[in-house]
Amino acid sequence: MPDPVAHARARRETSLAELFELLRIPSVSAQPERAKDMERAATWVADAMRRAGLENVEVVPTGARDARGHPWIYGDWLHAEGAPTVLVYGHYDVQPAEPLELWHSPAFEPTVRDGKVYARGATDDKGQMFTHIKGVEAHLAANGRLPVNVKFMIEGEEEVGSRNLEQAVRDHAKRLAADVVLISDSSMWDEKHPSIVYSLRGLAYFYVTARGAAGDLHSGTFGGAVPNAVEWLAKLLAAAKDPKTGRVLIPGFYEGAEVDADERKALAKLPFNEAKYRRSLGLGKLFVEKGWTPIEATTVRPTFEVNGFWGGYIGAGQKTVLPNEAHAKVSMRLVGRQDPQKVGRRFRAFVKDFEKRAPGIRFKVEQPSANPPAKVPIDHRALGAGVRALEGAFPGTKVVFAAEGGSIPVVGTFADVLGVPTVLMGFGLHDENLHAPNEHIRVANFERGIEASVRFFDALAKETPASLAGRAKRPKKARARGRR
Ligand code: BES
Ligand code: MN
Ligand code: MN
Repeated sequence: MPDPVAHARARRETSLAELFELLRIPSVSAQPERAKDMERAATWVADAMRRAGLENVEVVPTGARDARGHPWIYGDWLHAEGAPTVLVYGHYDVQPAEPLELWHSPAFEPTVRDGKVYARGATDDKGQMFTHIKGVEAHLAANGRLPVNVKFMIEGEEEVGSRNLEQAVRDHAKRLAADVVLISDSSMWDEKHPSIVYSLRGLAYFYVTARGAAGDLHSGTFGGAVPNAVEWLAKLLAAAKDPKTGRVLIPGFYEGAEVDADERKALAKLPFNEAKYRRSLGLGKLFVEKGWTPIEATTVRPTFEVNGFWGGYIGAGQKTVLPNEAHAKVSMRLVGRQDPQKVGRRFRAFVKDFEKRAPGIRFKVEQPSANPPAKVPIDHRALGAGVRALEGAFPGTKVVFAAEGGSIPVVGTFADVLGVPTVLMGFGLHDENLHAPNEHIRVANFERGIEASVRFFDALAKETPASLAGRAKRPKKARARGRR
């Protein structure tokens, strides 16, 4: 029987050239002026899926008629009778490329340097997502068939919190039904340790505004009697975290965030060199929550971070202004049974309480998105197929189970709505500048990713829908879902 891995290897250069085409499309979901590019990217993905041999390919709109979101792309190949069905998820949208001046080559002109492709979306997630389209193609081109049934859902709003995806999954639950979900949108533990991610943090995002006087004022004429909105917003944000212990001081914040002892033991066994980690970040010292290791603090502990903060005058030269308005973007990573809506209510209460001690200042809190954390049962048989695929595609390495600090909102939705576990098999690395200037992916890992995809479908074919059924659902408590 012709070998799909050999087939994929023989077509390495074409695959990379095709990825370049997709990377040239600036599909930034956050920026309204990129709407046309988002459409172009969706069409490109649909065409690539058709070329690979997927059937019933369709670009599906999201959102209400008067509030359209970015579309997702469906495609399937369902002729492996009796074999399991895998739903492949990925996203074609990317983060904004700004600040552009920090890129060594243009963000949307893919460039290879030192065996790495530099472009926005190279590792998150176009490069990783595309490996599965190529994996399907290799099987179909080599054998005219796949060993399992496959469905694809490639979305365009992941980087803005997947706001319309939960509804899309509910509306299309029948069409998306599967035994397991496969996602490549995460990182390997390090170059020697490919990983299956079993835990993702959730995310609660907030816009916080402080308002004082009716307008900006002369800081000489009024300074001394008028509250400064920038200062009071800074005090509010500073009050949310203990500078000594790193603990978040919002009352009730940690409820549901317990980590069990076994998980801590397992995390402690992962290879980690703190000095090297510090150096790679250009830091003399880390700021880790007291009582926890850096690995724990970045994966299974919740956090509070200020993502942006502005107000007053930030242009050239000096301006003596007493700002009446200040703004912040704040996000909290959530774990375990923490509920993003509940955390939102607690944060509002914390702000209300602080307001009593902020003379003349009113605070406003908005919560644009709420994504609960997600966990995959580590002993699920589907994860075994992921391990075997990675072992085959990354010879000489050791596969580990890892917790990840980032979020992929749809993982919880798939568990809740479809009742299926997700295999998170990533080909990125944490040093590949995702969400930052000079994002890249290692060319070798893109190629191994295609091979891992091919091998995953083969490994999963050793299972049956029945052998994969069972432990898929999350415990009842954890399924209470926050809605925006
Ligand atoms: N692919 C990332 C998540 C990720 C990053 C997983 C690193 C594993 C390693 C994803 O595209 C992402 O950036 N998610 C956002 C979600 C948010 C907008 C709801 C995140 O984590 O900030
Ligand atoms: Mn991603
Ligand atoms: Mn991302």
